[in-house]
Amino acid sequence: MKITKICCIGAGYVGGPTMAVIAQKCPHIQVTVVDLNEQRIKDWNDPNTDNIPIYEPGLSEIVAEARGRNLFFSTEVEKAIDEAQVIFISVNTPTKTYGKGKGMAADLKYIELCARQIAKVAKQNKIVVEKSTLPVRTAEAIKSILDNTGNGVQFQILSNPEFLAEGTAVTDLLNPDRILIGGDTTPEGEEAINALVDVYANWVSKDKILTTNVWSSELSKLTANAFLAQRISSINAMSELCEKTGADVNEVAKAIGMDSRIGPKFLKASVGFGGSCFQKDILNLVYIAKSYGLNEVADYWEQVIIMNDHQKRRFSNKIVQTLYNTVADKKITFLGWAFKKDTNDTRESAAIYVADDLINEQAKISVYDPKVSRNKMLSDLDYLETRTVEANSKALSIFDNAYEACKGSHAIAILTEWDEFTTYDWQKIYDSMHKPAFLFDGRNILNAKELESIGFIYKGIGS
Ligand code: NAD
Ligand code: UGA
Repeated sequence: MKITKICCIGAGYVGGPTMAVIAQKCPHIQVTVVDLNEQRIKDWNDPNTDNIPIYEPGLSEIVAEARGRNLFFSTEVEKAIDEAQVIFISVNTPTKTYGKGKGMAADLKYIELCARQIAKVAKQNKIVVEKSTLPVRTAEAIKSILDNTGNGVQFQILSNPEFLAEGTAVTDLLNPDRILIGGDTTPEGEEAINALVDVYANWVSKDKILTTNVWSSELSKLTANAFLAQRISSINAMSELCEKTGADVNEVAKAIGMDSRIGPKFLKASVGFGGSCFQKDILNLVYIAKSYGLNEVADYWEQVIIMNDHQKRRFSNKIVQTLYNTVADKKITFLGWAFKKDTNDTRESAAIYVADDLINEQAKISVYDPKVSRNKMLSDLDYLETRTVEANSKALSIFDNAYEACKGSHAIAILTEWDEFTTYDWQKIYDSMHKPAFLFDGRNILNAKELESIGFIYKGIGS
């Protein structure tokens, strides 16, 4: 089976970049990305590709190359489903906010809607690919919906989880560590797996394309995120011990990272991990374990989240304690709001929770982030429903210039590790602040000695 037409449902952080790269690398395949969100599709079609809705280094160039040639963004979901041989489902799978499993389980309503729509529209056999991150055994539910509500055509369900990280999405997609494809071990299942392998083989070497059964593939995605997040919580736990003992967490991370069995990556102590997936996926894992009665397994993984919440709270507490136990009416400037550098995504960013804590203490927060809009920051705070929309907009001032944001502040807190923060004229910033001038480096990106020699009282994480 040769794939010439692909449809992807969901034009978000995964669907957009993933399909742009497939289209770039496979000019012979027509790729249509569809979404219900009209504004999002309009933004993907903006004549100036610098205005596409997702900021990722290198992405606008790829969209400029492929869009209109074999890459299309559209709201015509049913037409795209009808025409495609392969349909990727890349819709969001947030934590449930209602009913059974509230606050833990993945909300699969968008997935089910996609399955029902595919079943309704499809008049020929199709391969349906789970690109979203899903609980293990979701393919069973999708298959049941497709087989029981469809027009009698055959569906093959593949699991092909995405491992890209935001901020490096394009390089991750162009040079993946591996591509994982899970499918049925029947002849039809194997034919579907091979068809998808052939798509990726246009730019990924075959030894990096791993095929498994569906359940292993689904569970591997949750496992990978759990392991990555666990490393961050592990080093963050050590950062607190470092602060009590005189050890330096950067030195500890380097020392353990040189052990080839441990490795150096994902050992940066921080104000806490954010992003749309780590917390959601671990909570989902915890929920699945509990639903099988595996309470020890559930408790083990839940601790990763507990530690992360503790790390965020510890950072805001440290600011309050250091500023003589009161931040009321003090101006505290946040440099960074995104959950990591090189993205405009703010979902679950530590900055939101630290700001919320400090506003509870009646601090005035000023923020500068090179990529996050004012409306986004305010809506992130409003989403917590801690106080009224008016109170949030009074407590949060947003600047598009870092020097202006820092002027007259009592303290600066680095919440995101944007490279530009390391290049600032810190003497100039110091001169414009109240004294003593405090600097809380939630990412350990600045040079403590240099800042202290300027006069800052510098507090990093874990030293
Ligand atoms: P997102 O919210 O950015 O995008 C999802 C899109 O799907 C939205 O634009 C939404 O409007 C659209 N959508 C929802 N239901 C729809 C429907 N029935 N028809 C058409 N469009 C619909 O989400 P995301 O960050 O791209 O994540 C998608 C999935 O990928 C999640 O399961 C996530 O866990 C997983 N994932 C995300 C990342 C990441 O870096 N963000 C990485 C790997 C995996
Ligand atoms: C993560 C995984 O890295 C991807 O493989 C996965 O596909 C994705 O989740 C997903 O499923 O959504 P992402 O959340 O985009 O990617 O970014 P990461 O680089 O993993 O960073 C997550 C958070 O951890 C950020 O807040 C980051 O600042 C923080 N972090 C990361 C640390 O605090 N320390 C580190 O050493 C590394």
